Amino acid sequence: MPSPLDKRLLFVTGKGGVGKSTVAIAIGLLAARRGLRTIVAELASQERMQGVFRDDGGEQFRELELAPGLFTISIDPQQAMEEYLRVKAGTIGQALGSSRLFQAFAMATPGMRELLSIGKVWELAQLHRRTRGGAPYDLVIVDAPATGHGVGLLRTPRTFAEIARVGPIAHQGQTIADTIADSDFTGVIAVATPEEMPVNETMTLADELARDDLPLDLVIVNALYPARFEPGEIGELGDALGRTRSALARSALRAALSEHARAATQREQRDRLHARVDGRLVELPYVFADEIALPQLQSLADVLEAAL
Ligand SMILES: Nc1ncnc2c1ncn2[C@@H]1O[C@H](COP(=O)(O)OP(=O)(O)O)[C@@H](O)[C@H]1O
Ligand SMILES: [Mg+2]
Repeated sequence: MPSPLDKRLLFVTGKGGVGKSTVAIAIGLLAARRGLRTIVAELASQERMQGVFRDDGGEQFRELELAPGLFTISIDPQQAMEEYLRVKAGTIGQALGSSRLFQAFAMATPGMRELLSIGKVWELAQLHRRTRGGAPYDLVIVDAPATGHGVGLLRTPRTFAEIARVGPIAHQGQTIADTIADSDFTGVIAVATPEEMPVNETMTLADELARDDLPLDLVIVNALYPARFEPGEIGELGDALGRTRSALARSALRAALSEHARAATQREQRDRLHARVDGRLVELPYVFADEIALPQLQSLADVLEAAL
């Protein structure tokens, strides 16, 4: 099976808090190592990712280089609209772009924010960037909003094309929709933690993508606890807990047993997902660290390296 890194546009999606932003950067680091000029585009101004690399608040919507060959951008729909009107629509566009009434109207149109965001993503993935001085990227990784919105986001351009039918919005919507429908160009990566709800949502996502004829290139099971003990050892730990009189030993033994129980539940959930998505599953370990910074992200990229 071809690697998702062979595509130009990858959507990383999943339930909130499962590690989408973390995984998006780890994949980005791996792609950059392989010599791909890569950008991770964060939608819905989550801002977490850039925090990993920088402290200052400015220049949020610029393309920033975070590691050699890895760039990031936080996409703001308003900014995307102003840019679009500036480069695309000439003087009238500029006039509209500076009209607060027009902007308020556009932003209130259902789905418009998503269309503008995805339009900017599409622009980043073009070999000929329309923004002045914009260098092309080999790979654009989209740190997409939580799952429910994930598929909706992918459907947005087509919806606009169908509703508008003629004119520039229909045309632009159709062009983007065609790009998304092209599975040589666009891929989807789902992230789930090995817990019941995220696994359920990922299965739903797989169904919805299949219904739209969109590929699910990869499922990443994130933050898997290590299995530290053999079944026999668990028996011994249980026995020891019954025998010991030391409070300290008891709490250490309880901690070991409860982590084991959690790791076992995680494996059940992973297997459930595995049965559904078959060969497209990659595991990432739980990172035991105070925070996930560049060294931790690099080691997650090491794990992905073998799988991708
Ligand atoms: N493999 C992992 N091991 C440990 N903590 C993780 C791991 N992946 C993500 N996290 C932590 O979980 C939290 C949510 O991750 P994040 O990438 O922001 O999720 P999302 O973008 O899906 O909301 C963050 O605090 C992050 O550092
Ligand atoms: Mg995030």
